[in-house]
Amino acid sequence: MNFLNEVSERYPAAVSLAAGRPYEEFFDLAAVHRHLDTFHRHLVDDLGHRPEQARRLLLQYGRTKGIVHHLIARNLAVDEGITVDPEDVVVTVGCQEAMFLVLRALRAGPTDVLLAVAPTYVGLTGAARLVDLPVWPVAGGSAGVDLADLAAQVRRARAAGLRPRACYLMPDFANPSGVSIDTAHRQRLLDLAAQEDLLLLEDNPYGLFHIDDGPRPPTLKALDTGRRVVYLGSFAKTVLPGARVGYVVADQRVAGADGRVGPLADQLAMIKSMVTVNTSPIAQAVIGGRLLEHGCSLVAANNRERSAYTRNLRHLVAGLTRRFPDQPDQPAVRWTVPAGGFFVVVTVPFPVDDALLDRSARDHGVLWTPMAHFYDDTAPVCALRLSVSAVTPEQIDVGLDRLAALITDELTRRAG
Ligand SMILES: Cc1ncc(COP(=O)(O)O)c(C=O)c1O
Repeated sequence: MNFLNEVSERYPAAVSLAAGRPYEEFFDLAAVHRHLDTFHRHLVDDLGHRPEQARRLLLQYGRTKGIVHHLIARNLAVDEGITVDPEDVVVTVGCQEAMFLVLRALRAGPTDVLLAVAPTYVGLTGAARLVDLPVWPVAGGSAGVDLADLAAQVRRARAAGLRPRACYLMPDFANPSGVSIDTAHRQRLLDLAAQEDLLLLEDNPYGLFHIDDGPRPPTLKALDTGRRVVYLGSFAKTVLPGARVGYVVADQRVAGADGRVGPLADQLAMIKSMVTVNTSPIAQAVIGGRLLEHGCSLVAANNRERSAYTRNLRHLVAGLTRRFPDQPDQPAVRWTVPAGGFFVVVTVPFPVDDALLDRSARDHGVLWTPMAHFYDDTAPVCALRLSVSAVTPEQIDVGLDRLAALITDELTRRAG
């Protein structure tokens, strides 16, 4: 990520199809003030706090597990049909902190490992590295997770004397692959997790951004009857990344260091109290206010955003189809057609690395992300990730023209 930032700073005129940031045109400073006021009124009018108590809740150090947990529980009920006890929710500094807390709690000894569907989100592998938890890749494939490989990896790890603590995955429009898991496969995954006594870490920042109007598949957490799923949430894409608010639903009952069984959420809060103490209540209030203003539905709150991402995703895929028509005598450039989310993966007939990205930025003025960044080994990868979230259709057109020129150049260079 540092390398990507560096490249975009060096070539500020380049069109960025690399950044997975949300669309900035809808950012609204006045709304932030209003959300804060809305949440303040909620504390007084709905929860019965005296004005000075409400002021203290917003401005003082606060509850480690957060102050918008009840609204998150309501949001999960309204949008996802998930029933959770608000006490099992820990509000965190972005989803990134939620991942860190969960991995820190799971990592008990040197034989522990984490399984993760590959390619995987770099924030996850970074957090795992910080807590000394090796990540074992599990094949994703077109179904989103290869269950035979998952079972094989669990058994292989156990046979080697290791303890697979959980499997991390993004069932909806994964970053970077864009792949989603269908409902029947989600159920099979939960069955396998039960059979293998495996915890699943479900990360779902993109689930609301589906392009068709049919129903969304249920989250793993909504299907989870055996408390197998730890659910990781982020408000970065659905409200504001600058608020830095995420959360984790951890309704598992686990033994603590003293042998006493208690909620996993409480263990996470204990770790959090030593990392960030509590998530900024002011930032939580902004999220809380936005939730309250939309009846706790992020689906309702994100109509404009969903339309913009849908338009962009369709535009990008159509643009690829136009620029790389099927030509039997030309080496294949292929791409994924995701049903939602921010990302499309383009496969090319040559390895894609940081040197190529640098050349792309310098000579062609377009940025993207090498897919190699999302694998934890050094094997060459002939693919790149394009993101549609932070650009306009016009920028997509310019970016794709430049990408097509880069690919033509690269093929010519290699042919000659
Ligand atoms: C899969 C995934 N999880 C989590 C996050 C980040 O969440 P947050 O910004 O809330 O830390 C991202 C952001 O890009 C992501 O792609």
